[in-house]
Parts: sequence; structure tokens; C-alpha cells
Amino acid sequence: MNRKKKIIVAITGASGSVYAKVLFDNLVKLSDQIEKVGVVMSDNAKEVWRFELGNEDYDNYPFNFYHKMDFNAPFASGSAKYDTMIIVPCSMGTLGRIAHGISNDLISRASDVILKERRKLIAVVRDTPYSLIHINNLKTVTEAGGIICPASPSFYSLPKTIEDVAYTVISRVIDLAGLEQDSYRWNEE
Ligand SMILES: Cc1cc2nc3c(=O)[nH]c(=O)nc-3n(C[C@H](O)[C@H](O)[C@H](O)COP(=O)(O)O)c2cc1C
Repeated sequence: MNRKKKIIVAITGASGSVYAKVLFDNLVKLSDQIEKVGVVMSDNAKEVWRFELGNEDYDNYPFNFYHKMDFNAPFASGSAKYDTMIIVPCSMGTLGRIAHGISNDLISRASDVILKERRKLIAVVRDTPYSLIHINNLKTVTEAGGIICPASPSFYSLPKTIEDVAYTVISRVIDLAGLEQDSYRWNEE
């Protein structure tokens, strides 16, 4: 079996806290494949989670939480060798900071580190419509090696609940992160 993974999850203030919740729930289920999950949330991520999900349950997950300005977090340096960083949901503001190397908080710094170390950055971006500024930033991050995985749910698995809808995106994120999971696969028995 492959080495267990060290994963950073960043949550920002875009709409779609349910995507972060569904990712957290699935990372707990896949804990035998994971060595560490480090989490950092922006201030607006906490606001939006409270507003959209009506709770502060992010505190209940068994992960290592770091303050958004904590540059002593291990993954603020490439030496900590985290494999993958998932930003879910990723606001256009955070995307812009990453695209321009503005490492003024732990989320943008950790992203900068992941890109410079040529590791995997997965940005679950959310806004609609996009301006040319957004499109250029999506392109820049892609050219730097990041993976843009938009919060664009699919419906061909006939999801029944909001969490099922969110999982149509998160199952793709989990695949991209290289974790093994049982999930819906189109036209497979
Ligand atoms: C309820 C709510 C929903 C929001 N949805 C989005 C969104 O979908 N996409 C986005 O880019 N910003 C959205 N914003 C605005 C961001 O929270 C804001 O730009 C913030 O500065 C982003 O900072 P952060 O990336 O550090 O969290 C939303 C704000 C609120 C309060």
C-alpha cells in the first residue's frame, strides 16, 4: 500500500460550506489512508459555515486546526512534505491571492508552498458568472500546476439530498487526491 497521505484542507468564504462538510465526513471514513489532516479556515469561511449550515460543527472533526495567520503551521514550509492541499470552497479572493503569489495568510502561503514544491493543489472554486479577472486567475493557477475542480455538481447519479449533490463534486476531489473510495462510477456495475 502507498504511504499514508498528509493533506491540508483550506476552507474559504465562498458559498458552499456543505462541500467542506462532506469532504470532512469522507476524510474521517478514509482515515486508514491518511496520516494527517491539517485544516485552516478563513474568517469568512466560519461566517458562511454558520450561515449556510447553522452550526459550528467544524470544531468536532478529529483534525489539526491552525489559525489563518499561523505561519508556524508545518505546512507553511515545504519541508513538512504535505502531499495535497484542497481548498474547498475556494473564493475568488483566495484564488486571486494564490495566482499572484500574495502569501499574506496561511491559506495563500500553504498554496504557494504546494505549488513551488510541485505537489498537488486542488481548488474547488465557486462563483458565477466569472469575470475575465477570475478566468485569468484560473488559468494562471492551472499553468502553475494547480488543479481547478469547480464546485459544479452533476446530476446523472440522481442525488437525493443536498449532501448527495455536494458529494458529486467531493467524490471527484477525493479521486484527484489519490485516495481510494467506493463511489458512483458512470455505467459501472
Ligand atoms: C454568504 C456569503 C457567500 C459568499 N459566496 C461567495 C462565493 O460563492 N464566491 C466568492 O468568491 N466569494 C463569496 N463570498 C465573498 C467572500 O466571502 C469574500 O470575498 C471574502 O473576502 C473571501 O475571503 P477568503 O477567501 O479569505 O475567505 C461570499 C460571502 C458571503 C457572506
